[in-house]
Amino acid sequence: MERIWRGSSINKNKEMVDRLQSHGVIRSQKVAEVMETIDRALFVPADTPPYVDNPMQIGYNVTISAPHMHAMCLELLENHLKPGMHALDVGSGTGYLTACFAIMVEQQGRAVGVEHIPELVESSTRNIQRSAAAELLKEGPLSVHVGDGRLGWPDFAPYDAIHVGAASPEIPPALVEQLKPGGRLVIPVGNIFQDLQVVDKNMDGSLSVRSETSVRYVPLTSREAQLRGY
Ligand SMILES: C[S@@+](CC[C@H](N)C(=O)[O-])C[C@H]1O[C@@H](n2cnc3c(N)ncnc32)[C@H](O)[C@@H]1O
Repeated sequence: MERIWRGSSINKNKEMVDRLQSHGVIRSQKVAEVMETIDRALFVPADTPPYVDNPMQIGYNVTISAPHMHAMCLELLENHLKPGMHALDVGSGTGYLTACFAIMVEQQGRAVGVEHIPELVESSTRNIQRSAAAELLKEGPLSVHVGDGRLGWPDFAPYDAIHVGAASPEIPPALVEQLKPGGRLVIPVGNIFQDLQVVDKNMDGSLSVRSETSVRYVPLTSREAQLRGY
């Protein structure tokens, strides 16, 4: 999906959410509420305009995804982010979506971020501590871990919702294993040409897979490949 607006004309989080709503990217009231609650400005580097509808550099050869992509993924996962559910955010980067997931699944649920760059885990923890999800991080239902996200995070599996924030050449088997029957995985798949795939695990364990849209994400890869620039 193309960006919705150009440049840094928007300078308030609420205006950004309104714009995503008026363009039909956000349709659900719940998604609008969570994106209003978690201010994107707390998750971008200090010298970066926060509400530009582009991916922005966050160091280590990666980006925070564009607001319209965050909104689209929240919309796709909304029914799997109800209070009490378990959510996994692979390649959690700045922690923005992990924080949104935590607000949606609430105190009785679980939101888990897995990121393979330790410095990003540290900075995302600081971002979340300044956000409306701080209490959930302190009390335990929200956690961010250093790890290879291709292996998921078995400790809190099975998950109702799994989001992958980087493009994988194929759907990692561990993520399918850790998805609950009835659960949904949203993952960019491909190399140069990528599709955002929506993978539903049926109650009998079979999978239904469809492509939502063409996308362009950084690769889901090894830490070494990422740090040397792929
Ligand atoms: C496009 S960024 C998106 C981050 C996050 N969704 C956000 O908007 O802040 C992709 C993230 O995936 C991470 N990543 C790439 N490969 C990974 C892997 N194998 N395991 C864990 N994280 C990985 C990168 O370090 C980067 O932080």
